[in-house]
Parts: sequence; structure tokens; C-alpha cells
Amino acid sequence: MSKKSRVLHRSQRETPPLAVGGHGVWLVDANGREVLDGSGGAAVSCLGHQHPRVLEAMARQAGKLTYTHSSFFTSEPAEALADELVGHEPGGLGYAYIVSGGSEAIEAALKMARQYFLEIGQPQRSRFIARRQSYHGNTLGALAAGGNAWRREPYKPLLADAFSHVTPAFAYHEKRADETDDGFTRRLIAELEAEFQRLGPDTVAAFVAEPVVGATAGCVPAPEGYFRAVREVCDRHGALLILDEVMCGMGRTGTLHAWEQEGIAPDIQAIAKGLGGGYQPIGATLASTRVVDAIRDGSGAFQHGHTYLGHPMACAAALSVQQVIREDNLLERVRQMGDLLDQRLTERFGNHHHVGDIRGRGLFRAVEIVSDRAGKTSFDPALKVHARIKRAALERGLACYPAGGTVDGVRGDHVLLAPPYIVSAQEIDMIVDRLGAAVDAVIKDISH
Ligand SMILES: Cc1ncc(COP(=O)(O)O)c(C=O)c1O
Repeated sequence: MSKKSRVLHRSQRETPPLAVGGHGVWLVDANGREVLDGSGGAAVSCLGHQHPRVLEAMARQAGKLTYTHSSFFTSEPAEALADELVGHEPGGLGYAYIVSGGSEAIEAALKMARQYFLEIGQPQRSRFIARRQSYHGNTLGALAAGGNAWRREPYKPLLADAFSHVTPAFAYHEKRADETDDGFTRRLIAELEAEFQRLGPDTVAAFVAEPVVGATAGCVPAPEGYFRAVREVCDRHGALLILDEVMCGMGRTGTLHAWEQEGIAPDIQAIAKGLGGGYQPIGATLASTRVVDAIRDGSGAFQHGHTYLGHPMACAAALSVQQVIREDNLLERVRQMGDLLDQRLTERFGNHHHVGDIRGRGLFRAVEIVSDRAGKTSFDPALKVHARIKRAALERGLACYPAGGTVDGVRGDHVLLAPPYIVSAQEIDMIVDRLGAAVDAVIKDISH
């Protein structure tokens, strides 16, 4: 772009390329060049771009009603979306509080947990335990909940001290060489128990976690049994379990909710990205009937709110996205294509000197880049290996989602892949080929 951009972009040093179109898993830039969208932005575009059924649903709603304020009216799309999400009460979740994105969904979850305890006469519960190397959003409450050290650092003086952080279930870095998966889980649960005891178990409102950690650590599922043990600790101490499925939810890992693969359900859940697939900004806080009943039987109203709650256009788009996922049996496709992606990544990177770990579930996979496999050593953060890979991949026609600070907020690089659920086997091959070429080019570059 030659004209000065007045958008305050993420970087004030460079303006990103201009995207002018999209179709399926492809994005089109201003020069007409097609870029394979290997991560759906930040794991958002679950149906790819310009899905005709979603566009049609949005046009239909635009012709009827685009906005109404939730304190005056409800709307047909909001009612229908909530029915679609929680009409069958999955895991006891019976209500949807519909907001405009992931951070708002987390803010609502935190406040809802706090208010629940006020309603049931336990006002002393105001503490939240979360995990290091996690991300729950960028508004101040969500940022305080998250354990992403780099994102928290500049705003530390503004973050509430109601939050504390325990070791993440990140086996590649946190499990000791002589430890079994079970032993690792036991150690993590003992630490969680100790944190409850340190705070005073009856002061804890909730434990907050991503079932599969997203961008901060790169698609990290927990060891088998970890979340069942977490649920047990929360139940024993009367605390709630808040699961953040903003990134890993709505089918991304092969089941609609990632918690389905853990044999537990949360009391409160945040969803966002795959909910609306990028067609509209939308998120939701799903609440168990137990939590909502307590509020209804108590003060009678959740003391929170935003101007765009239950936005009709956003709800119409998200409803259509969810209908397409269900009607086209896309969860099955996520599992099949996810297995294929895992297989192709293993073939390409399984013996790569600079890929230490390949992990994830469904169409939510990451490779961790290392300088030395045996020692699991990261490259010098100053090299910004992740940023170089992003650039090298884009030059090769692949948009992917690399990030740094994988290990502790400073060290480590990984590349996250989250292609749309409609991705074909051939496109999976192209993603892996292009990523492989980009990684090799960067390694060659920095080795000289
Ligand atoms: C797990 C998780 N929680 C919360 C958020 C915040 O969502 P948003 O960026 O829509 O506010 C994100 C965004 O990346 C996320 O990955």
C-alpha cells in the first residue's frame, strides 16, 4: 500500500498486506495472490471464507432486524442460537450469555462465578486459580486470569491479585524425565491442592483452564485423567470449574466441546472463535443450570452487561455456522483431517533436527521449534524464529500462526495450525509442504 494507513495496526513499523477477498480455505491479497489459510487467522475461520449458507443467513437477518438492545427486547436469532447451543443441556450447561468475543466471555464467566457465591451466601469466595502459560484474553480481568507472562508484564500494576497461577499440564516441558504421565498428573494435582490450602479452600471461587492450551503454548492437551482430578479437587472444595474453550472449542479438537474428551463438564464455559467462524464478532458464556438457578432464586439478575449482548446479526451468523457444522457432519471431518494432518506433520517433521514436539487434537496442531532436540533447548528469543517462519510461510503462500514464548513467556517458538474444517486432503498436503519449506529456509538462514 502506498497511501499512509491510518489504522493503528499491531505493529507501528509495518502495515500488513491487504486482503481483499476469500473463498473456502483461501485468502486473496490485493495483487490477486492466493494464500492458503492454514490457521483460520487465530483458529477462527472454521468454515473457511464466504461460506454461501452463512452469507445467505446473514443477508436474511440483515433484511429483517440488525440490532436491538437486550434490556428492551430479545431477538429470534439470539433465542435460536441459545437453543442450538444449550437447548439439550450438554454437561448440565443450560444457558448462554451471548457477548462479542472471547475476552468478554471470560469476563462474564469470572463475574458469574463471583456472583454465584454471593447469591448462595459464600461472599468470602473471591479467589481464582489458573495456570501459567495460558491465555484468557486481553481485557484486564481476562489478562489477570491468564498466565501469559509476556502479555501480563506491562500491565502488572493494573491486574487484580485475585488470581494465582499453578504449573500447566504441559508434559513436553514440565514432566520430569523420570516421571510417568500418572506421576506428572499427581504432582500437578498435589500442587493445585496445595494452592487451595494456601489461599484457604473456602476463599476460592473457581479454577480456570483451557482444556487444550491455545496460542500461548501451542495446542497442549493435558495428560489422561488430569481434568477428572481437577474436577474432583474443585468439587471437594466447593469451587467452580471454568473452562476456556474460546480457541479449542466448537469442534476444533474433533468434538464440539474439548471437555467431552476429558470425561468431565465445566460449571461455566467460554466459547468464541469457532462459534461465529469470523463471520461476525461473537462469543458466549455457557452456564450450568445450577449457577443460573442460584442467581434466579437470589437477586434475580446477573449484574453485568454490554451494549451488544445477543446481537441479532452476530447470532444469525453463528447459528448458521453451527447448523452447517452439525448438518454437514463436520466434526467427523475434523477428526479425519486432523488425523491426516498429524500423520503428515509426523512424516515431515518427526525426524527433523529442529522440531522437538508435534502435538494437538483434531484440526488444532502445533510443532515446537528447538535448537537442540535432545536438550529441548529453544533458539535465542532475539532471533525471533517464530516471526521469521511466519514471514517465510507467507512468502510461500501459507498463512499460519507461529508464536514465541512457548516455554515460559520468553523462550520457545512454535507454529500453530488450525485450518478450516472444510479443508481437503490435498490442501493438508500443501499446508505441510509449505510449512516444511518455510521452517527449513529459516533454519538455514539462522545457521549461517
Ligand atoms: C483461550 C482464549 N481465551 C480467550 C481469548 C480472547 O478472545 P478475544 O481475542 O476474542 O477477546 C483467546 C484469544 O485468542 C483465547 O485463545
